[in-house]
Amino acid sequence: MSRIRFHEVVTRDGFQMEPAFVPTDDKVALVDALSECGYAKIEVTSFVSAKAIPMLRDAEEVMGRIRRVPGVEYAVLVPNLRGAERALESRADEMNLVMSASETHNRANLRMGREDSFATLTEVIRRIEGHAAANVSISTAFGCPMEGDVPPETVLGLTERFADLGVRGVTVCDTTGMAHPDQVRALCEAVQRRLPANLQITLHFHNTRGMGLANVLAALQAGIQRFDGSLGGLGGCPYAPGASGNISSEDAIHMLQAMGHETGVDLDRLLAVARTLPGIVGHEVPSQVSKAGPIWQRHPPPAQAA
Ligand code: COA
Ligand code: ZN
Repeated sequence: MSRIRFHEVVTRDGFQMEPAFVPTDDKVALVDALSECGYAKIEVTSFVSAKAIPMLRDAEEVMGRIRRVPGVEYAVLVPNLRGAERALESRADEMNLVMSASETHNRANLRMGREDSFATLTEVIRRIEGHAAANVSISTAFGCPMEGDVPPETVLGLTERFADLGVRGVTVCDTTGMAHPDQVRALCEAVQRRLPANLQITLHFHNTRGMGLANVLAALQAGIQRFDGSLGGLGGCPYAPGASGNISSEDAIHMLQAMGHETGVDLDRLLAVARTLPGIVGHEVPSQVSKAGPIWQRHPPPAQAA
């Protein structure tokens, strides 16, 4: 069975749409707890406009205070050069540069057209070379809540242009849970056919319509080995109408482990962290395995059956 690399995004994607500000101390403590769970990568925060995403206005402080565990990569989301300078200052291992496959979502989320984003990110890639790894996340890759269908060729073309600029990886994002498994399989196969084998391809799913784990399975069967997920199934882009939570990390990792895949994540430890999440955000969270327990957990029989 293959080794799967799982990336945790709860303190970035997971928190960015939460209504109540999560105190900086809680964010730092959560990243520190997640660092002990065996993740390959943690996307800690965003260096974006504080007006666009008020929740992540404490990005410098969070990056400055987390305890960095060797072997874990600490990534941050960056939309422009200003964000890249801030991220360099904070010694991020990887910058996750973001733009959309759909013009309308790019304008809603980043307040510029796709070609302006591409030019901006090109500058960022040149600026950070030799200092931090560059990954590009392509939002709305499986459909846009405003435009509808997004042609696979748009995603493939953008991915190819970024690969030509020398980025380490590309994350294909289903921002509002519009992808279905057949579509995922086709796009994953096409990306891998077309792009160089050393380009790291990550899939980023939201469970908005309940297709999240089915899509993980489809991507896995198409040969993908890297996935993003958010603890508790929190998450969503505030500039994508109808957005809701990412796939839950603990549910996805539980499924992968049940199928015999190696993720490097200590699931018991992760479930203990997941159970603290409702207390941090002040409400129940959608994930399931933290409530039901893993399939290998045993219960005592009811008294009358004993
Ligand atoms: N970090 C912090 N502040 C930033 C910034 C960055 N990376 N980029 C711009 N700003 C500030 C500017 O200094 C300016 O501040 P001021 O109003 O106090 O002068 C303000 O933001 C607007 O700057 P401008 O260059 O005109 O940007 P904009 O208003 O066109 O917004 C983005 C562009 C990209 C900065 C903004 O849309 C953004 O941060 N989007 C990210 C959204 C996001 O994270 N979505 C979810 C993840 S997919
Ligand atoms: Zn997302």
